[in-house]
Amino acid sequence: EATGEHEMGLNELLAGVRVAGVVCNQWGDTGKGKVVDVLAERWADIIARGTGGANAGHTIVCNGKEFVFHLVPSGILHDGQGKVNVIGEGVVLDPHVLVEELNQLDRAGLSYNHLRISHESKLVLPHHLVLDRAREFKKGIGRIGTTGRGIGPAYEDHVARRGLVVNDLLNRDVFLQKLGRALEGAQRELHSMELDGETTREIFNHPLLLNGRFYHSTKLFDGEAIAKTYLEEYGKRLAPFISNTSAFMRAALGKKNVLLEGAQGLLLSVDHGTRPFVTSSDSSINGLARGVGLRERDVNACIAIAKAYMTRVGSGPFPTELGGRESEAHCNDHSHDREFERKEYAHVNVNNGSELEKGIALRVKGSEYGATTGRPRRTGWLDLVALRHAMQFNGSLLFLTKVDVLDAFKEVRVCTQYEYAGPDYNYGGSMLKSGDVLDFFPADSKVLECVQPVYASLNGWGTPTNGIKTFEGLPVELKNFIQFIETHAHGKVCGLSNGASREDVIFF
Ligand code: IMP
Repeated sequence: EATGEHEMGLNELLAGVRVAGVVCNQWGDTGKGKVVDVLAERWADIIARGTGGANAGHTIVCNGKEFVFHLVPSGILHDGQGKVNVIGEGVVLDPHVLVEELNQLDRAGLSYNHLRISHESKLVLPHHLVLDRAREFKKGIGRIGTTGRGIGPAYEDHVARRGLVVNDLLNRDVFLQKLGRALEGAQRELHSMELDGETTREIFNHPLLLNGRFYHSTKLFDGEAIAKTYLEEYGKRLAPFISNTSAFMRAALGKKNVLLEGAQGLLLSVDHGTRPFVTSSDSSINGLARGVGLRERDVNACIAIAKAYMTRVGSGPFPTELGGRESEAHCNDHSHDREFERKEYAHVNVNNGSELEKGIALRVKGSEYGATTGRPRRTGWLDLVALRHAMQFNGSLLFLTKVDVLDAFKEVRVCTQYEYAGPDYNYGGSMLKSGDVLDFFPADSKVLECVQPVYASLNGWGTPTNGIKTFEGLPVELKNFIQFIETHAHGKVCGLSNGASREDVIFF
């Protein structure tokens, strides 16, 4: 199979590289999984995750069977070839989700003998899921639109120095003592929200919370039920895989090919993203290296993924969104879930109709719907101001995904600058005034909400790109698009994907 230009490009790209990272430069869902798959299969000995948790979702098709993984690294299907998959200490690990994924592998008759779980990964426990869901419910309109997987509360417990780690699953007394303290705080917070009994039970009555098993009518959290399930079921099941993975990673430096698999995207990073509408870990390459126990300078190559257009799930500013606020409201309204299945949108076309309709057409074309929920993702044009911001942290090596989704567009727009259109605002030591042109990306959502994109209009390529295997074979308009990005983002595009299958990946 993999021969020719694509393979040469990959070999050249990774010559002398021992540690490579794959991260996303947008709001996640850019298709980095496919690049990770290719590198995991052809290059890596070790595949490690270091950030996020079960908020990530990754679909892999193997021998015609579809797998959806949230926690195990994407290299798990290569366990049989002796590849080691690592869940690093920076990950927030939901044991229930992980055990389900291992069961999924068991059912398919696939091995995971080389899986390693850090003894220091942070535990996601039932109270984290409950608080995440309760807060989102309570906030209503002002909510972040989290994935409801307990990610924020789990990282909060870690920073507040009351979190539990995977190692605690192996020490009953420590587990019970720490759990007791954590539940006290969670109970206080939940009480203070004054939710009615029915809502509370509904929140607990979720499959990820074993349909109410951890609900207690007076104490809210049934600590005994939690301890029983987590220590006796999950702890015992995961014990053989738990070890000091950071020591393992450091020992592998210079000896093995190590692939670091990012989660979410730079614009969702708690440190560099569009606060407060972000996740709770640092999704940059720096956060990723740290999360597996390495230093940033141990990483020899960072491949940052950018989709040829952009999407965002959940709330928060998105300057280049097609249809703007109207689109955000449309996507957050659950009556539009799975709109791709409905006739009323059959007429939408990428080249005419309102901006909102073009956005819908782009979404249908790119299958931009959440893998688990069917939630429509908000869609818009590529934003180079945001990309330049991301590249400050993730470096200048870019990989473009889903270019084939733009095949039918007559015009392709790219945002190069913003115009500020809000009230006078102190920002970063100067006063922003309406009409100011911004070359930088204001991560502060207050500012970002008030910017208008300045667009460059490029000719679309208007021809199918799927199946093209070399850079030379690409239509000239697409080459111009790539060059435009390289010039205005000061980066190097090292490859692209032009189709849904893992064969549709070109490195040049
Ligand atoms: P949380 O990570 O569940 O707390 O969600 C915080 C924000 O990050 C929300 O806007 C989510 O939609 C977004 N988010 C989290 N994980 C992903 C992902 O894997 N892809 C896209 N968006 C994500």
